[in-house]
Amino acid sequence: MIQEAKKRTNRWCAIAGGLVIGISTTLSSCLPHQDIIVPCVKGPLAVFPTVYKSGGDSWLLCSHIRVHAGMEVLDVGTGTGIQALTALQQGAKRVVATDINPMAVANVRYNAARRGWTEKVDVRLVPAGDAGAYAVVHPDERFDLIVSNPPFFDGNAVNVAERAGIDAGHELVSSLFAGLRQHLAPRGKLLMVFWGPAGYEMLRELAAKWGLQLQIIDRGPLIDTSMAKWVYNEQHTSAETSEGISWMKRVAGDEIGKKGLQVIVIEAVPDPSLMKHMREGSS
Ligand SMILES: C[S@@+](CC[C@H](N)C(=O)[O-])C[C@H]1O[C@@H](n2cnc3c(N)ncnc32)[C@H](O)[C@@H]1O
Repeated sequence: MIQEAKKRTNRWCAIAGGLVIGISTTLSSCLPHQDIIVPCVKGPLAVFPTVYKSGGDSWLLCSHIRVHAGMEVLDVGTGTGIQALTALQQGAKRVVATDINPMAVANVRYNAARRGWTEKVDVRLVPAGDAGAYAVVHPDERFDLIVSNPPFFDGNAVNVAERAGIDAGHELVSSLFAGLRQHLAPRGKLLMVFWGPAGYEMLRELAAKWGLQLQIIDRGPLIDTSMAKWVYNEQHTSAETSEGISWMKRVAGDEIGKKGLQVIVIEAVPDPSLMKHMREGSS
């Protein structure tokens, strides 16, 4: 199911990108970016420097996206926008895509613009100082589908590229679960990838705490420590390879070495039995 990403190096003008993301437009050179072919999304997917290139986790997640015309989707930690683009391709009315990496914000805008979907994607930069899952989502906004491939590992990222894999105290996932009831439309759901088996225990605790029903709907291959190092090295953009190795050794290597790694796809919905109790309690 997961096919090899094909690489092609292209150039993207930083001037245009600067206009798109609102950073300095004085940069005169063109930034290199790669065009890769991935599952789920038709046509080339641009990958900007420092942005998570997409990998087995991203592809497993996008393969489970089912969107009907008119649905509204939130993509938390959009990266290149692979999941946002999958949803738009399937007819989503609107996708709100968020990321803490300004280059990812520019990246998904670029990938959407290439397909004529600029008006349908609302890309929002998460401020570094307020990194909750709904930091840039209005309290009243609700979505039919919330999709996320969050950083898997606890630790301290030393730069924004590392935030693709590391999240101090699992703040993103914790806040994602905490606010789910508030931000899901009726019959809406969260579709997310994470890592098992250890990560799943944490998700179960969060689901119990926030009154959610959780189920694993798919699993990737079981990856041992040496394989995991290879996967992470390969999946980071070439510019990030050395960073990929360093954080892999520093954070993920230890955790995976002790606990193993298997990417899991989960669905979470508000627990209907709790909703019944809540309705009965309020009447
Ligand atoms: C594993 S990558 C997934 C990217 C993309 N969705 C995919 O599947 O390829 C995680 C993404 O989450 C972003 N991220 C990390 N912390 C975040 C936060 N607090 N809020 C929003 N995005 C965040 C990272 O910059 C990165 O783009």
